[in-house]
Amino acid sequence: MIADLKAGNGGSNGGGAVRNAIEVEHIVKKYGDFTAVDDVSFAVKEGEIFGLLGPNGAGKSTLIRMMTTLIPLTAGKARIAGHDVEKDPDAVRRVIGVIPQALTSDLDLTIEENLNIYAKLYDVPAKTRKAAIEELLETVDLTKWRDAQTKTLSGGMRRRLEIARGLVHSPQIFFLDEPTTGLDPVSRVAVWEMLTNIKAHRQLTILITTHYMDEADRLCDRIAIVDHGKLVALDNPTALKASVPGSNVIEVQFENPPADWEQRLHALTAVTSVQHEGAGMFRVLTSNGSRTTTELVEAAVQAGVPVRSLSVQNTTLDDVFVHYTGRQLRDELVKAYAFVMPPRPGIRP
Ligand SMILES: Nc1ncnc2c1ncn2[C@@H]1O[C@H](COP(=O)(O)OP(=O)(O)O)[C@@H](O)[C@H]1O
Ligand SMILES: [Mg+2]
Repeated sequence: MIADLKAGNGGSNGGGAVRNAIEVEHIVKKYGDFTAVDDVSFAVKEGEIFGLLGPNGAGKSTLIRMMTTLIPLTAGKARIAGHDVEKDPDAVRRVIGVIPQALTSDLDLTIEENLNIYAKLYDVPAKTRKAAIEELLETVDLTKWRDAQTKTLSGGMRRRLEIARGLVHSPQIFFLDEPTTGLDPVSRVAVWEMLTNIKAHRQLTILITTHYMDEADRLCDRIAIVDHGKLVALDNPTALKASVPGSNVIEVQFENPPADWEQRLHALTAVTSVQHEGAGMFRVLTSNGSRTTTELVEAAVQAGVPVRSLSVQNTTLDDVFVHYTGRQLRDELVKAYAFVMPPRPGIRP
């Protein structure tokens, strides 16, 4: 992971095989005494889908706002396609598309009017405007709704409109701040598919923020986990999951296992813990699920102990979050939405 972070700090945007689309170095944002973003560094390669994953209040939106020239940096540097966000904000704005966390399309306009206004705002030449909008409507599956007023759309359709709008000037780098928050599961998956599809047909680097583990896992080439303004881990989803000790859980039930069975299971390769839950049921934690499962079945056959049932579960990014922050991301979400309810004991302030 350290190597990954360092690779990002190489700086130069010329020469190398893969260029960095985004370079953030020791970036800090303070609001008075409060540090919202605390010395964060990372780089995003051209063509990558890069995720910022963290609970509410982690600093994700603040990071995006700094990278997209919306708010000044307290310290550090950010370069977007080689342009310094502070020295050359106009150049940055020309190469980026931004979907802010809040929906911002104009409710009284139709889908097509919303796209048209943006295209004009971004000086998309009249000649190419129409074709670009046609193609985007098709991409986000809104062609047949083009004349519908935006206020009549579902949340998922509005998000798709905003994705199309953010791409109308063919940006090189696309920033999406929690694009699926508040959407139902079907609409969320539709947005993922759309982004994957867009990515396959365009030269595009995508930076997305989310507090959904499954979203980051499914979409992102690499993920930076942020917590309390700090970057706590950065790697691809597979490596992040592999970095957690005991990354698989095997639940297995045997028929009449011998007395020393628990010890024998513990001796298998990569096992980090074994729990006997009664009635021949064991819960085996392992850092190598497939290897341990193979050995476990072989040991059972050799000892003549029948296996009644067996399941192997993968570590999820939830486990990764717990490993690096000491807390459940889900608890954090409960906390974030708990402001309308009386305080609950045991939840941190
Ligand atoms: N304009 C602001 N003034 C003061 N505090 C802010 C401001 N914007 C954000 N914050 C604080 O900074 C922290 C990070 O916020 P934000 O970047 O919105 O987090 P996230 O997008 O990860 O939910 C939060 O604690 C938030 O309350
Ligand atoms: Mg946010």
